[in-house]
Amino acid sequence: MKKTLLIIFAFIFIIGTIFFTYKISFKEKKDTKLVEKNPVEGNEKVEVKINTPKSSESKKEVTKKVNENINKTKNGYSIVVKNGVTYIDDILIVNKSYSLPENYGSGLEKEVLNAFNLMKSDAQALNLNIYISSGFRAFQSQANIYNKYVLRDGKDAADTYSARPGYSEHQSGLSFDLNSINSSFTDTPEGKWVNDNCYLYGFIIRFPDGKQNETGYKYESWHLRYVGKELAKKIYNNGNWQSLEGYFGIESKYLD
Ligand code: DAL
Ligand code: ZN
Repeated sequence: MKKTLLIIFAFIFIIGTIFFTYKISFKEKKDTKLVEKNPVEGNEKVEVKINTPKSSESKKEVTKKVNENINKTKNGYSIVVKNGVTYIDDILIVNKSYSLPENYGSGLEKEVLNAFNLMKSDAQALNLNIYISSGFRAFQSQANIYNKYVLRDGKDAADTYSARPGYSEHQSGLSFDLNSINSSFTDTPEGKWVNDNCYLYGFIIRFPDGKQNETGYKYESWHLRYVGKELAKKIYNNGNWQSLEGYFGIESKYLD
């Protein structure tokens, strides 16, 4: 009799354990949802663990928290998309992952021109001559330039130094190319001075040497991008230029 009771209890215990284990694993599955990682970064599906709302926390609040995480870069900076334009920590971003609308832009921004004129006159005082050779480029101008390079060097090569239309910073009104627009600029007195001083005026070397895997482009000593003095100083990094991508923790890759 005692033995039978013991067997019944053991049986109930085993069934109970199996039941609870199954219930917990089912609940965990239910709390894991497939969500869009970051719509502008390539519609990648990732698994995000959603904590079941505590009694004090509404479902809406949990959703908000999840969305906040999705709209952050790897380094924790906020990503905001306004009218098809991406801003990270309030800085307009255009690279191979973040494009501009076709009709965006109309010329170099006033603030950029003012900063450039100041830089130019300080350079002039040192007998250095810097000038803008290519400033704002509309979508169609960029298309013409890019297509010309594709015909000359092929698409893969062109993609290492020329942006596809809609993906060029020249369309943003915040970038320009100086002087010769080629690597002969790097070792000129002007090129050296620009490299060491442009951050003081709010500019960065947008495609620094050795950062092609981050920016998606070969080194361009002549292509400057305005980001304001505060950020420019950080990116300048005491002469060891960082890339904007490395700083923010974002990618620069075409989808195809
Ligand atoms: N040369 C740079 C990458 C551009 O075409 O915008
Ligand atoms: Zn350029």
